[in-house]
Amino acid sequence: MKKIAVLGSTGSIGTQALDIIDKNPDKYSVSVLSGATKLELLSEQIGKYHPKAVAVANESSLGFLRSKYPDMEFLVGMDGLIEAASASDSDLVLNALVGMIGLMPTYAALGSGKDVALANKETLVAGGQLIMETASASGAGIIPVDSEHSAIFQCLEGQRSKSVNRLIITASGGPFRGKDRQDLKGVTLKEALDHPKWKMGNKITIDSATLMNKGLEVIEAHWLFGTPADRIDVTVHPQCVIHSMVEFEDHSILAQMGIPDMRIPIGYAFSYPDRLPNDLPGLDILAAGPFTFEEPDKKTFKCLQLAYDALKAGGSCPVVLNAANEELVGMFLLNKIGFLDIQDSVDRLLQEHEPIYSLSIESILEIDKNVRERVKQLWR
Ligand SMILES: NC(=O)c1ccc[n+]([C@@H]2O[C@H](COP(=O)([O-])OP(=O)(O)OC[C@H]3O[C@@H](n4cnc5c(N)ncnc54)[C@H](OP(=O)(O)O)[C@@H]3O)[C@@H](O)[C@H]2O)c1
Repeated sequence: MKKIAVLGSTGSIGTQALDIIDKNPDKYSVSVLSGATKLELLSEQIGKYHPKAVAVANESSLGFLRSKYPDMEFLVGMDGLIEAASASDSDLVLNALVGMIGLMPTYAALGSGKDVALANKETLVAGGQLIMETASASGAGIIPVDSEHSAIFQCLEGQRSKSVNRLIITASGGPFRGKDRQDLKGVTLKEALDHPKWKMGNKITIDSATLMNKGLEVIEAHWLFGTPADRIDVTVHPQCVIHSMVEFEDHSILAQMGIPDMRIPIGYAFSYPDRLPNDLPGLDILAAGPFTFEEPDKKTFKCLQLAYDALKAGGSCPVVLNAANEELVGMFLLNKIGFLDIQDSVDRLLQEHEPIYSLSIESILEIDKNVRERVKQLWR
């Protein structure tokens, strides 16, 4: 029985992970749950899974939850998430938190030798080098949950990493594929949240619309697979059936395919190195095609180019990219700024930044904080 700490259990990835656990009660159990705003759902989850501990975002949630579960151990805030991530009871930590809040729990879990099933891509964007070094020092594994990275991870199984020519990350193109800058000026929040293929949390859905999500994934792939930026390509594949590909030195390309359903990569992360049977429909290969591939429009959707630039510049630049983007997406979700303001302001923040090349966990958190303050100052 694998005991899984589900950080972010009330979110899109978290609830799908619990669905997998429900369907495999002989293989998996829940050791920890965590949530922030969806307290009714969190409360239902506590009643159903009886975890050892529950992490909540702040003290204000405790009254409601304690009244229902007086004997439960509740952990609060960032310290609570860190404790939840390194709790001795878990065999695997699923980090399904959204945003920079996921960095410290990943760091803590890996530092205490726990394997991490990583959905929280912001962890590797902001803290890539430190996180990989921490995993390597403790011997803990990072198993990617992001569908593109799971695809690459699967293509690399049994291969020697030095035989890789390039990684090819596929992208849906998002809801605004084919539009130009003029078209993007007036897009609404509702339109940006209307992803053509995937049903996900709000932040990643906006990141998909701006193509920042692909940019974050390029940085995530760089750290996970040790591939330099100039050997990571992005291709738009609107059918979302090929989840990514790897080209080897003999020019063979391996691709991983399947229906676009996150329960497949989450299940693989839980069962790795085995495969987990499921009751999802298989891919109807005759109905799925024809498959098309397009060059992403990095001029209109600047975020993807900015992410490549930040990765190449190195040091603190990806921290700035990530922090500025998260703050700006938050503002767009509150209708405080326009869609193009996200990419234009990330660009400005990166241009203003003097890179720092030796990063500790403290300096990453400090840069993140300063960038967020600067964004707030710009849009006051
Ligand atoms: N969704 C997908 O299909 C998908 C695919 C690939 C990768 N990912 C990555 O997976 C991660 C999670 O994405 P998601 O779509 O599942 O996000 P989501 O639906 O927004 O869920 C985020 C989770 O984090 C919790 N949370 C938010 N702010 C918090 C805080 N301050 N303190 C503690 N917990 C907090 C939320 O709690 P409440 O809901 O209770 O507020 C929720 O449980 C992201 O990094 C995303 O890029 C997602």
